Amino acid sequence: MEVVHIETTSKRYPLYLGEAVLTELSSVLAALKPAVSKVLIICDETVAGLFLEQVQESLQQEAHVHVVPSGEQEKSFANYYAAQTSALEAGLDRRSVIIAFGGGMVGDLAGFVAATYMRGIRFIQLPTTLLAHDSAVGGKVAINHPLGKNMIGAFHQPEAVLYHTPFLRTLPEKELRSGYAEMMKHALIWDADFYTWLRDQVRILSDLQGEVLQTALKRAIGVKAAVVAEDEHETGIRAYLNFGHTLGHALETACGYGKLTHGDAVAAGMRFAILLSETVYGKSLGYQELSDWFFSYGYPPCPALDAAELLQLMKKDKKAAGGTVHMVLMPEIGRVETMSVSDELIVQVLRQFQEQEGLR
Ligand SMILES: NC(=O)c1ccc[n+]([C@@H]2O[C@H](COP(=O)([O-])OP(=O)(O)OC[C@H]3O[C@@H](n4cnc5c(N)ncnc54)[C@H](O)[C@@H]3O)[C@@H](O)[C@H]2O)c1
Ligand SMILES: [Zn+2]
Repeated sequence: MEVVHIETTSKRYPLYLGEAVLTELSSVLAALKPAVSKVLIICDETVAGLFLEQVQESLQQEAHVHVVPSGEQEKSFANYYAAQTSALEAGLDRRSVIIAFGGGMVGDLAGFVAATYMRGIRFIQLPTTLLAHDSAVGGKVAINHPLGKNMIGAFHQPEAVLYHTPFLRTLPEKELRSGYAEMMKHALIWDADFYTWLRDQVRILSDLQGEVLQTALKRAIGVKAAVVAEDEHETGIRAYLNFGHTLGHALETACGYGKLTHGDAVAAGMRFAILLSETVYGKSLGYQELSDWFFSYGYPPCPALDAAELLQLMKKDKKAAGGTVHMVLMPEIGRVETMSVSDELIVQVLRQFQEQEGLR
């Protein structure tokens, strides 16, 4: 078992990573101070069907359970409200703990419930997707609004993250690919050596198992942890993690939540950001080769949506300032920076990008 220490200004907490991490859950709960009164597990239907019993058996105390339907569209006000109702009915108090058991959808929803229930109670992340190597670390929790993704949220760090990798074995390929996009992101924004390693070691998605999976997770989490340690509340470099997300979130909103996986949307957003970077910096960054690398894993081409409409959605992004789109651009592999980009240039390169994607 590996332990990564996540250090933020507001809290330091451990992330356990490995093949038998679930066995630690009850001792992690038992070690919390003040002692835990009640436990509420929040998970989605799919995860409940697969692993809920196993988790309940691993606990020493009876836990309350709140199950939400699966899918991004469920990261909603309605489910936030329903989970708060469950917490109240179960009699959770300020010494209680919520276990966010699932992928990023449940992690964000349950984390936001924990952040706001009685002005904030403790929670533990028990991630079950590859994508959650990103979402379970760093304390951003949120629900979606029909007008924009993650628009209602908070910063609330968990007490611990328990990454039990056997949970990942039942992930459908589509979800593995979705999570892998954030892994590619972590390499591209921060660690050129990790990028080379991924190209070499992960030829196809099913290479993500055993030692390769553990190493890939550890390195990607390491990037996330390093960024968050420097900038917990996104006043500076944490924005780097939004590489590919400005267009990615716009695509998710435009297509309707749950139609396109988060990773497929972000992967398209990264390809666009790379093409835009080539234009802005006036040099080749190997766009074609990088694009081929993405498509080798089966990422779908960017949906052919109207460029002007996408621009409007990009402007609604939380990172847009004063009406200009702020993009994370990549001057070289392994390094990014933020920059405001004019509407004209966004639309021009977006059209060029969609043409390229249409040829795939
Ligand atoms: N908070 C953050 O910092 C942050 C960072 C990145 C992404 N996110 C958020 O994360 C979400 C995406 O996360 P996700 O991709 O994990 O989505 P998800 O939680 O919706 O999971 C994807 C699908 O996989 C299923 N599933 C989960 N675990 C499984 C398993 N072990 N076996 C089989 N099926 C399983 C789920 O039921 C769901 O249908 C988005 O809402 C995104 O905004 C948040
Ligand atoms: Zn993301």
